[in-house]
Amino acid sequence: MGDTVNEILSAYQSGHALPGALYRDPEVYETEIRRIVMKSWLYVGHQSQIPNRGDYFLFDVAGESVIIVRNADGGINALLNVCRHRGSRICDQPSGHESRFVCRYHGWTYALDGSLRAAGHMPDAFDRSRLGLRRLHTRVFMGLVFVTFDGDPATFDAIEDDLTEPLRPYGLERTKVAHRQNYPIASNWKLAVENYCECYHCAPAHPEYSVGHGRALPADESASLLEEVMERAPAVGLTRHRLRRSWLASGGLGVDRGFERYPLLRGHRTGSRDGAPVAPLLGSITGYDGGATDLHLGPMSFGLAYCDHVVLYRFTPRALRSTDCEITWLVNESAREGTDYDRENLTWLWDVTTIADKKIIERNQAGVDSRFYVPGPLSTMEDFTRRFVDWYVATMREVASDAAGSHRP
Ligand code: FES
Ligand SMILES: [Fe+2]
Repeated sequence: MGDTVNEILSAYQSGHALPGALYRDPEVYETEIRRIVMKSWLYVGHQSQIPNRGDYFLFDVAGESVIIVRNADGGINALLNVCRHRGSRICDQPSGHESRFVCRYHGWTYALDGSLRAAGHMPDAFDRSRLGLRRLHTRVFMGLVFVTFDGDPATFDAIEDDLTEPLRPYGLERTKVAHRQNYPIASNWKLAVENYCECYHCAPAHPEYSVGHGRALPADESASLLEEVMERAPAVGLTRHRLRRSWLASGGLGVDRGFERYPLLRGHRTGSRDGAPVAPLLGSITGYDGGATDLHLGPMSFGLAYCDHVVLYRFTPRALRSTDCEITWLVNESAREGTDYDRENLTWLWDVTTIADKKIIERNQAGVDSRFYVPGPLSTMEDFTRRFVDWYVATMREVASDAAGSHRP
């Protein structure tokens, strides 16, 4: 590490797109996985996916697999899916139920907390107590489960302290997963995040979204509408918080957080085909204030909170040119499918929008793979993307200088 990555980074000019090698160099990819992905708090799923003891699901990122399991005490553990004997994967199914985890290679058996309970034919000196599955730091925040691979992570409190109050009315811990879908994207993860962070492309690419969402307008055109939303918010039980502590403003690696309101347009009350509600109101919300809320939850997860449902976006790098975009739709836990909400209606907008985004992002990757690609200037509607790439380059430069032994103050 070091020289090559440094040389590539030195070509970056703030206010422009990233140099092409940052999307196609394997050494860059390995460095960012080590430095960013392995060090950040990552949203993995919602607690309602594993309601009972022994329920689990797998979280896959950058070649790693983690078992997210409901333990015997009702808490949630995150266990590395790598056997402590000769390293076999233990669970293969994306989700399931086990009273204990048995490695099918030689039968080593682990409890739900990862401790090793049985291993046959081992020498007398064998000490089981030191061979539990590796446990990752885990936090459950309002029903959302976060993990980090880092043994000494930045404190999660920053996210909790800033987002508890504004998120409280949505009652996320009293929601359930109505639908979850993965949209695999054949691109580098940064192109997917860059695309999510700007709405410059919304008007041309997302007519279904743009008709009802003020985010598709330049900020100055939607400012007065936003003020009206903020006036109405308390009357429906929402707060007037607006908060953006992302990227270089986050104060720590991997604790990005944001809660930013914006207006819906043309009388739309939620994100749906015609703007009409698609599920019962969430939490303690009592009506529709004509706004939507953009969420930022750690560096690679985002969300959109409407008054009747929440859409969570989880980007995970799988390989240099392969990224998962998993979407989770949350509704009030008491809502019944078929009676209180229709799954197709609920998911229509973000399904159609994400299918369009997948195409855009994959076309973007094909273009930046060209020998002749030159990074162009960003627009005023791409400010959040600019801040993401500024942060990315600064973070990667710290790595490069750390590796060279010259630590920044
Ligand atoms: S590798 Fe798991 S029991 Fe041998
Ligand atoms: Fe988009």
